[in-house]
Amino acid sequence: MSTLTWRNASHRTGHEKIDAKNKRIVSLYNQLQTISCEQNYDEIVMDVLGELVEYTDHLAIEEKILEENGYTKLDEHKRKHSAFLEELCSLCESYEDRHPQLLVKLTSLLEIWWEHHIIEDVVKNKHFIATTTH
Ligand SMILES: [Fe+2]
Repeated sequence: MSTLTWRNASHRTGHEKIDAKNKRIVSLYNQLQTISCEQNYDEIVMDVLGELVEYTDHLAIEEKILEENGYTKLDEHKRKHSAFLEELCSLCESYEDRHPQLLVKLTSLLEIWWEHHIIEDVVKNKHFIATTTH
């Protein structure tokens, strides 16, 4: 079992709301790692899926901030958000179908999202968002 660790020094963008959301991704991922038995599976998976659905609202806000600050790879960034949303919808359907690989897929989605989107795209380009205050 491995967990993710939030580090202000390397993960903070300076934008309060974006940092709060990114921190939640770390927590949600770690929460999935606590699933140890059938007893808490439903509760945790449902909570994580529910929060991720709410999280997608934040992606539109992030896109707006990036656009306002002249982020040059906005279209590519938006495509990644759409792909995340699509994958999340598919996982929500898997949950309803009681798909046995759901937990593995959900954990993998968050891990990839953290490493290849949040760290490599958002944090790396923090100069485009840090100065925005809304
Ligand atoms: Fe993003």
